[in-house]
Amino acid sequence: MAHSEKFLLAGVMGWPVMHSRSPALHNFWFAEHRLVGTYVPLAIPPEGLSAALAALPALKFSGCNLTIPHKEAALASMSQLDAASKAIGAVNCVTVLPDGSLAGSNTDGFGFIEAVREEQPAWRVNAGPAVVIGAGGASRSILFAVADRGAPEIRLINRTAARAHALAAEFGKPITAYSWEDRHRALEGAALLVNTTSQGMVGEKPLDLKLDALPNTATVVDIVYVPLKTPLLMAAEQRGNPTVGGLGMLLHQARPAWKSWFGIEPKVTRELRALIEATIPAG
Ligand code: ATR
Repeated sequence: MAHSEKFLLAGVMGWPVMHSRSPALHNFWFAEHRLVGTYVPLAIPPEGLSAALAALPALKFSGCNLTIPHKEAALASMSQLDAASKAIGAVNCVTVLPDGSLAGSNTDGFGFIEAVREEQPAWRVNAGPAVVIGAGGASRSILFAVADRGAPEIRLINRTAARAHALAAEFGKPITAYSWEDRHRALEGAALLVNTTSQGMVGEKPLDLKLDALPNTATVVDIVYVPLKTPLLMAAEQRGNPTVGGLGMLLHQARPAWKSWFGIEPKVTRELRALIEATIPAG
């Protein structure tokens, strides 16, 4: 694709949005690939979302990302959806097609899998049961990705049991809901543990979970990335578990978006990671 005649545009719509690391990340790739363009934060309140999305083709945007609170509401503005966004019920990436219509996709689950693969290359999805804590939007994308890639068993645990049961019923096999009271025991024999809740985030309490029953070979992932190392990751590391922090998911989910907008598959390099890490308080 010849880009020289076009100023490339993409961005992230959110409310609020100024905390987003996506502009720094995507603008790193513009510079790295020597492309003329920019990626901007777009502060769009919920009532402005459909008009903002509809304006993308006229403004010559290649597409945009969506963050809180727009991921679910955007579904209605898409003329096509990929399998992941359909199953997850949320769109995090919008691509403007040549005819001006909008294609929605969800790359969060891909980002999760790629981050785990990058940081713990020995991990295999079929190594054993996965335990997922939390039943919000982030959980949905991870459940979809892990189930889609062939996890034999997924134990879903949420403080509000009804949400876990509803999600397990909606997704079906191989997901089973466990009660919050059983969370410590549910770690027995697991090969993967993922925290998708806000617990452990700066200003929040650590996730209330005892790791004693977890095999020390299990990979422990926290999708929280502020701080980079949460109390859960520190506890896991201390007992010898391989760990993965939340930043990788953020970095890797952006790769397919870039590919879809600009036809180039960018890389998550050490330099990029260091640039984004420098914007995050140590905790
Ligand atoms: P997201 O879309 O980012 O996943 P969400 O939909 O608000 O956010 O979900 C937040 C998750 O964190 C939920 O699973 C929530 O549990 P509830 O369904 O019981 O609310 C979980 N969570 C939030 N605070 C929690 C706490 N103090 N202890 C345990 N889980 C908590």
